[in-house]
Formats: sequence, structure tokens, C-alpha cells
Amino acid sequence: MGIKLGILGLGTVGTGTVQLLQDVVGRHPLLKEIEIYRVGVRSLSKPRAVELPAGAITTDLEAIVNDPAVDIVVEVMGGLEPARSLILQAINNGKHVVTANKAVIARFGAEIFTAANQAGVYVMLEAAVGGGIPVIQPLKQSLSVNRIQAITGIVNGTTNYILTRMQTEGSDFSDVLADAQRLGYAEADPTADVDGLDAADKIAILASLGFGGRIHLQDVYCEGIRQVSKTDITYAEKLGFVIKLLAIAKKTSSSPLSVRVHPTLVPKTHPLASINGVNNAILVEGEPIGQVMFFGPGAGAGATASAVSSDILNLVATLQTSTAKPNPLLGCGHQHYSEIAP
Ligand code: NDP
Ligand code: HSE
Repeated sequence: MGIKLGILGLGTVGTGTVQLLQDVVGRHPLLKEIEIYRVGVRSLSKPRAVELPAGAITTDLEAIVNDPAVDIVVEVMGGLEPARSLILQAINNGKHVVTANKAVIARFGAEIFTAANQAGVYVMLEAAVGGGIPVIQPLKQSLSVNRIQAITGIVNGTTNYILTRMQTEGSDFSDVLADAQRLGYAEADPTADVDGLDAADKIAILASLGFGGRIHLQDVYCEGIRQVSKTDITYAEKLGFVIKLLAIAKKTSSSPLSVRVHPTLVPKTHPLASINGVNNAILVEGEPIGQVMFFGPGAGAGATASAVSSDILNLVATLQTSTAKPNPLLGCGHQHYSEIAP
């Protein structure tokens, strides 16, 4: 069985994914089944770091999602539109989707998963939260019997990189942001990172998976790191704290679910205090499991390509072994986004 990929986007993540798929093709039997068939971009004249078959690159992204030969659409273009419409078009055309786009999933997850359930296709989104860290599938599968009490994370690599360098080197905010952009960590519009919006999208997705129910972004309190000064960091340090941009979703027996993102004084002894640079970590607390922490690189080409490519391989493996309807535990064609309003 040959599987044809239509990849939307050939930037940091798209290029990393193509490189990774091409590099490991000889090492993984399933990859022999996969063909990078079409790749959609904005500009045909931009130099590209990967070699693709002649004619594979196009600016006509609609043609990719409407092409009957394409089996899986990999959306790594970012932004809300046309990404949302292209994902929906792909699903309605019976194609499975792999996406890294937390902005689209956090806002339109309900619409997308309802369409996927109706079409009987998978939507995979491991790369949307935590870059290379496997956290979506573990939360959905391996921890599914637990009653989740809190999810506390450093889920934005750019801001953690900035805060770490401000703390360890006394660097200036704007210089370090420029480095994060150069390294491919930041969003196309880095305001989303700096003002906490990217972290808000991610905690909304995690909270939806962990607690069930759809999380509306307007209910997520969101404050970024723009106001954090070197002086704040120095005083925090003297008092035994580090400043981290935390994304928190918490529910107690006496209080409803609270979802928020803000700079936080974290005691140096706390497990999240030592998460530095572009790394992310997500601490999940539940009953009966107790505490579980996921840690790893939260952004960048290689790390994110790892998550996207693994989603593709898992999907291909499932398609090869199953003729049944999508297993809701594998893909995120799940009920959480549509069933309960908080
Ligand atoms: P880039 O800006 O580096 O790449 C975007 C790509 O999509 C480019 O190839 C661009 O084409 C193409 N593109 C964008 N808009 C259009 C359009 N309207 N029509 C045609 N092509 C378009 O983004 P990233 O690779 O960094 O991010 C992609 C997605 O992955 C985003 O959703 C992001 O949030 C997510 N993500 C990113 C991570 C990272 O570390 N960078 C980590 C995890 C998730 P062209 O090259 O011609 O400009
Ligand atoms: N801009 C995001 C970050 C990319 O810095 O975390 C990974 O989602």
C-alpha cells in the first residue's frame, strides 16, 4: 500500500519533517510506503533546504487537499486561515490530517473533530503542544483512567528561552527574541509567544484532553512576559525563585476548572524551576497516579519534525492494520471538544 502525503508548508517544521522522513526512509520499513507527493508553499522562488521531485512544490494548496491521490494532509503552514479551511476541506475529502497548528485546534477543534468523526478520518496533533515531547497521546491514552486534578506546564519554548537567557546571562529581551526567531522557535508573529497567546492555545488543548469539555479561549486568563524585567529576575533569584511563564489548568472538588497563563515565581526546588532554554515540561497531577512530568525540547525544526513524523508513521501503521473506523484513542477524532461546555 503506498501512502501519498500532501504537505502544506515548507518552513521550519515542514522542512524539518521532509528532511527527517527522507533521512530515515531506509531505516524504517513503513517509510518505504510513504511518498512526499505534493508540498504547498507561498513562494516558489524561495531557496529550499530540501530536494523534492520536480513539480512537487506548488502554491496551489487547494489543489493538494482536493487531489484524490493524496491520502494524508500534513498541515504545517500555521495561521488561522487558510489553514482551518484547508484542514476541513481535506477532512471532507476523506483525507487524514496531521497538524502542528495549536492556534487552529484551540479555536476550531470542535468543528474539526466533528467533521473528522463524520468523515471517519484521523486528525493527529502531537506537535501542537510541547514540540517534540509526546504529551497528547500519553494524556489521551496512557493516563486516560486517571481523574486529572492539575496540568501545569512550561509550554512555550521561545519565552522559556528568553527568560532563561535573561536570568543566566542578563541578556536583553529583544536581543534574545531575535535569536529565538533565528533559531526557528518563535511563531511567524512572535507576539503570540511573548504575550502568552501560544501558551494559552496549548493549555486549552491540554485541559480539554485532561478534563474533558471544550475550553473557550476567552475563558483562559492570559498574561505574557513583556513586563518581566531583569530587576524582577534578580530579586526573584535572591528570594529563592525563578520566573517562569506557566500555563496552568486546575480543578478542585470545591472550585471549577481554572485555566490560565502568566509569569510565575517558581521556587528553585520545584521540578519546573530547572527547565531551561527552549525546553518545555508538563506536570500532570491525577488520581490515582500522582505526579507525572513530561520534559523535552519544546520547539525547533528537529524536535517538532519528530512529533509530526511520528504522527504520520503511527497513522500509516494504523491504516495498514485496521479496516475499522478510526480508533478514538489514537487520533484525536474525539468527543472532548464537542460534548461539554465548561
Ligand atoms: P514557518 O513560518 O517557518 O513556515 C510556514 C510555511 O507555510 C512556509 O513554507 C510558508 O511558505 C507556508 N505558508 C504559510 N502561509 C501560507 C499560505 N497562505 N499559502 C501557502 N503557503 C503558506 O512556520 P513554522 O514551520 O515555524 O510553523 C508551522 C506550524 O507549526 C505553525 O502552526 C506553528 O505554530 C507550528 N509549530 C511550530 C514549531 C516551531 O518550533 N517552529 C513547533 C511546534 C509547532 P513560504 O516558505 O513560501 O513562505
Ligand atoms: N513558538 C512555539 C514555541 C513553537 O516557542 O513554543 C512550538 O509550539
